[in-house]
Formats: sequence, structure tokens, C-alpha cells
Amino acid sequence: MRVLLLGSGGREHALAWKLSQSPGLSTLFAAPGNPGIEAHATCRAIDPTKPVEVTELVRAERIDLVVVGPEAPLVAGVADAVRAFGVPVFGPSAAAARIEGSKAFAKEIMLAAGVPTAGAAVFDDVEAAAAAAARGGPIVVKADGLAAGKGVVVADSGSEAEVAVRALGKLPAGARILLEERLDGPELSVMALCDGERAVLLPPSQDHKRLREGDLGPNTGGMGAYAPARLLADEALEGIRREVMVPTLRELARRGAPFRGVLYAGLMLTPTGPRVLEFNARLGDPETQVLMMQVAADLLPLFHAAATGALPEAPLESAAGASVGLVLAAPGYPEAPRTGAPIAGLERPRPEGVMVFHAGTRRVDGRVVTAGGRVLTVCARAGDVAQARARALEAAADLTFEGRQLRRDIAAKAPAG
Ligand code: AMP
Ligand code: GLY
Repeated sequence: MRVLLLGSGGREHALAWKLSQSPGLSTLFAAPGNPGIEAHATCRAIDPTKPVEVTELVRAERIDLVVVGPEAPLVAGVADAVRAFGVPVFGPSAAAARIEGSKAFAKEIMLAAGVPTAGAAVFDDVEAAAAAAARGGPIVVKADGLAAGKGVVVADSGSEAEVAVRALGKLPAGARILLEERLDGPELSVMALCDGERAVLLPPSQDHKRLREGDLGPNTGGMGAYAPARLLADEALEGIRREVMVPTLRELARRGAPFRGVLYAGLMLTPTGPRVLEFNARLGDPETQVLMMQVAADLLPLFHAAATGALPEAPLESAAGASVGLVLAAPGYPEAPRTGAPIAGLERPRPEGVMVFHAGTRRVDGRVVTAGGRVLTVCARAGDVAQARARALEAAADLTFEGRQLRRDIAAKAPAG
């Protein structure tokens, strides 16, 4: 099979590495890719959010399957264009990806599908939202649209919530505002491969969104992850598949927007049961990096089956043990990353079970330099989370660049088991 992978982050490097091991793969292309992905794929410098550029590449290279990494191409309708061209795509249509692109739409779907979530009110008018926020106690304020992790404020008081409404109301994503009931509990990410009707769960994982150790500092795209995150028993996970994933797929299909790709449920495990905080229409980053280390099954036939509506419902085969991934970020990330620094240690050989995935890197005169906020994800798999964490930290010690930011407490509080 000739496969085109869209994206250029750590998630896509991990996907390229995993897909390159599939016996069913004949050629892997990536667009635009990165210096790490080059080891597994032929990279093409096109804009993956431009439907015409993508379909032209699909035609020219006789691609059999397109795998979409990030949300931007999905929201831009790239999956629709490729599907209209007659080629299967692992990634939802723009209509189905609205479940990530609009939090108001996601709420509407959850309500209609009976999926447990936080109560919320949606406002089209900032003044009305500000007045309602001022009356409330602890409340969560959310901009409706995509805001690169800056669209949610968990407020402790009515006045804090009112300030947040006015700030988020100024963002392009904030034309509509949601005021949401504030929940409490540990968070868990559950992702599923979906074919429009059926859902097959990937191992549960946990991300670490804050920049600094101890869950302090600003929100980021994610500073590290581990899997499996054993916060729910197997029966409860099956409950998430049956009572969250499947009803959501049914509701989207009923509305003429069948979801084929990865549905990602961000859950909060409250004292009264798991509730969905948000949906994403794609794999998480850096969660994917650890999931690709942890899934033993060949994913290529499953991506193809999901893309063509023929997913077998059997649970995925997982590797033993656990995997931990640490993000090495540029100085100034997330506000204003400073890039262009040479990265030392990349050429060293890695022991079995350790992978270094590239994200924001670039090759300049034969050297790899930093080129984005999140630069590398250093991943290790071992017998348990604690050992995997120790191995990842050891591997990260060798990889240095000026101003490197790294959280050493990723997976430090993971439940054993
Ligand atoms: P979201 O983008 O909706 O997942 O929100 C980002 C983060 O805000 C989540 O990972 C939670 O830590 C927090 N959050 C979102 N919604 C709520 C809620 N209803 N109650 C408490 N915390 C929340
Ligand atoms: N790491 C969180 C996300 O990919 O949305």
C-alpha cells in the first residue's frame, strides 16, 4: 500500500515509525514531514491544509491511503477533498471534525447522544456571557473555536470568570462563549479508532499540559505522556467505548457526518463517574508517541479498515509494560519559542525500547537545529511506568540544546499496575 501521512510533528514521526514496520506498506510519503520522519518516508514540501495540493500529490504518487495527523487539514476539508477524489482517508470530514472545532457543537452532540459531560450554557453575546459569569461561583469559561490551548479558563470566582469572558471574547475563537460547570478529578485521555459506526480503543493515556513540574505554569500542547494510564478498570474502559464513543458516532452519522478516524475523549474522572470535557478529532500529541511504542498490533490495516467503514471490533493487541514520553521544548515555549539552536546528541545510538521523535526540528547545513516550540519527544518502553520513566529521563540527559525545557515529573504520579 502507498500511504501519504500529513503533518510534521512528533505525533507524525511516531506514526511514520510505526507504519514503516507494517508488512502491508510499500511506500510511505509524508507532507511536509520533518528531519526525523525522513528516516521512514519520502517527504514532500506541500501545505497539508490545502486540499488542492494534497489531492495533486495523491494523484501524482498513486496514493492508496491518506493518514491525517493534525486537526488543521481536517478542519480545512482536506479529508473531504481526498475522499471526493476516490481515495480512502484515515481522518474525519470537516463536518465531523466540528466535534473538535466547536465546543458548542460538541456539547450539542453529547446532549443528543446522552454522553455524560459538564453542564454548560452557550452565549453568542459577550455581554450576556459576562453578566452570567459574574453571577456564578467557580465556573469554567471556554471559547467555542480552536484556540491552540488558550481557549479555556478555570475560574475560582464570578469576577475572575467575568474577566475571562471578556478576554476570550476578543479571540477569533471566542465569537461564542461557553460557561461550564466546574468538575473535579483526575484526567484521562481515551482515544478510539473509528469507522463511522464502530470504535476500537487505544490504550488509555495521560498527558501533562502545564509547562512546569508540579503542574504549574501556563498550559501547553503537552509536555509529556504515559500509557497505559491505569486509572480505570477494564470494564469501565469498555463502558467508555459503549457509552461515550459508540453513541457519539451514532449521533454524528445520524446527522450525515460519519466519523472515520481517531475520536479522542478528554475525560475527567469525577466522584460520580467519568465525564467528557472535550473531544478531539485526531490523535493527541505527545500521547501518540507513547501509544505507538505501546501498541503491538499492525495499525496500517486497521487505519485502512477505519477509513473504508470495515473496522473489526476485536480489541487491539498491546505490548507488555508501559511507555513514557518526555517533551524537550525550546526556551520561551509556549508564548514565544526561540529557535535555531543546534541539538547535540541526536546521532548517539539508542538502546532497544528507546525512541527519539522529532517535532520542531530543521536541517541546516547538515546539522539539526531547533525549529519550533516542542522540539523532541524522548520515549522509552519498559516493564512498568517507573522503569520507563527512568529510562526516558536517562535518554533525555544526552539530548541537549540551549535553553531546553523539560519536565522531570512526567508519569511520577502514575498508578502502578
Ligand atoms: P479542554 O480544552 O476543554 O479539555 O480544557 C482544557 C483543560 O481545562 C482540561 O484539560 C481541564 O484541565 C480543564 N477543564 C476543562 N473543562 C473543565 C471543567 N468542566 N471542569 C474542570 N476543569 C475543566
Ligand atoms: N496533548 C493534547 C492534545 O493533543 O490535544
